[in-house]
Amino acid sequence: MTVHFIGAGPGAPDLITLRGRDLIAASPVCLYAGSLVPAALLGHCPPGARIVDTAPLSLDEIEAEFVRAAAAGQDVARLHSGDLSVWSALGEQIRRLDRLGVAYTVTPGVPAFAAAAAALKRELTLPEIGQSLVLTRTPGRASSMPPGETLAGFAATGATLAVHLSIHALAEVVENLLPHYGPDCPVAIVYRASWPDERILEGTLATIAAAVAADPIERTALILVGRVLDAGQFRESALYDPGYQRRYRGRGGPGEG
Ligand SMILES: C[S@@+](CC[C@H](N)C(=O)[O-])C[C@H]1O[C@@H](n2cnc3c(N)ncnc32)[C@H](O)[C@@H]1O
Repeated sequence: MTVHFIGAGPGAPDLITLRGRDLIAASPVCLYAGSLVPAALLGHCPPGARIVDTAPLSLDEIEAEFVRAAAAGQDVARLHSGDLSVWSALGEQIRRLDRLGVAYTVTPGVPAFAAAAAALKRELTLPEIGQSLVLTRTPGRASSMPPGETLAGFAATGATLAVHLSIHALAEVVENLLPHYGPDCPVAIVYRASWPDERILEGTLATIAAAVAADPIERTALILVGRVLDAGQFRESALYDPGYQRRYRGRGGPGEG
């Protein structure tokens, strides 16, 4: 018996990997993490599957589901939104499974930041404008931030920021970033990227709060901040430069893209 953790993607039901879909179809138990996991994915469950929304459950109750499935010898498909490597509660669940001696696998998914960039039709790294992307958040009710991980600290690097779980704290985000990026720095807010009700609000650090006040967004949104969002003027990457092609292409040189 194995628990298969599967990144369910950002929302559109066809943004799951083939491996993830096939594991759902092969597992007689499916635990899914509430409304952020598209209901259509549950259609891949085999007939008669035990399908449980874990949003209202405690970690102990989720563990009890794993124990019940293990006793019955039934594989479990465990779905979380986006990818499992960020804000998925994977860590605490696999620690319990390790203690129980239950086997598990991890199948990646499309993370929200990638879906948001796709919705914007933007690349989040551009030559000489931005070469680093910070995935971060502001503190929440259940989670404080480690002392070194402040928005101002990340902003001091000038990196592009993808601020998760923070649309309710937009004023605080703007206040922390303004001194570093300046009022004209572009900001994009993507609400429910890839869902049918996806919405995009674009502006600058000076204007974005008013834009959201006029067209309120309360949850499931990503705040992207950085010069890459409106950079028309940037150097082309060396990757497709003929000199670079001669030197590296076709002989296992530094691979990108
Ligand atoms: C608990 S985290 C889950 C992150 C997820 N594991 C991932 O790989 O992106 C939830 C936050 O991710 C962001 N998010 C998740 N799905 C999103 C989507 N479809 N569009 C925009 N933001 C999304 C929002 O910031 C939301 O508050």
